[in-house]
Amino acid sequence: MLEELKDANSYIIGKIVEKDSLILEMEDFAHENNVPIVTKEVAEYLKFIVKTHKVKNILEVGTAIGYSGILMAKEIVEQDGKLYTIEIDEERYNQAQENIKKSGLSNIVSIKGDAVEEIKKIEENFDFVFIDASKGHYMDFFEDSIKLLNKNGIIFIDNIMFRGYLYKEYPKRFKTIVKRLDSFIDSLYNREDGDFVLLPFGDGVGLFYKK
Ligand SMILES: C[S@@+](CC[C@H](N)C(=O)[O-])C[C@H]1O[C@@H](n2cnc3c(N)ncnc32)[C@H](O)[C@@H]1O
Repeated sequence: MLEELKDANSYIIGKIVEKDSLILEMEDFAHENNVPIVTKEVAEYLKFIVKTHKVKNILEVGTAIGYSGILMAKEIVEQDGKLYTIEIDEERYNQAQENIKKSGLSNIVSIKGDAVEEIKKIEENFDFVFIDASKGHYMDFFEDSIKLLNKNGIIFIDNIMFRGYLYKEYPKRFKTIVKRLDSFIDSLYNREDGDFVLLPFGDGVGLFYKK
């Protein structure tokens, strides 16, 4: 979470009331086991966009334990929509399967594997793509998923400002990733096939709208 906005984010999080017991259980599990899941205010925004844009089909890159996937898949049931989600880590993939089973949702297609390879194999089209996996590959995930994105579709990129390291001093070991993310952001602002906006909440959210 961006340190500068921590108090504002805490205030917002304090206002969000979650009643779904599975979602609460997954939040506790993630917290206890250090599984990175979307922050609550980002989760609320994700659901809001999916709902208000009448999104039908979703591609998620980075399932983890299925938290954001289940949240979004619930929002598209009425539209008869499907969510495809990709996870590279076997243990997390298995935990996600258990949670998806508990959710009772039947509109989630889980793929186990490296999204760098797996996105290329998908033959569906999507209205919404959620990128939330290894930051070093954000550009690849974007380039491959935009090919599957319908006109007027949105790509939602989480953690794009990488704990604020893009604009403040960062540990040397993050040099490559910081430079990559910074030039990725420049490239998104310069694209002619859509519009980009950068939002400073959560850990930085990038939204790309395909014309
Ligand atoms: C931040 S977590 C995803 C959190 C999830 N979207 C949520 O909010 O509930 C990132 C996940 O992406 C997975 N991941 C990282 N690189 C990946 C890749 N190349 N392909 C697929 N999954 C990847 C990690 O194993 C991790 O579980």
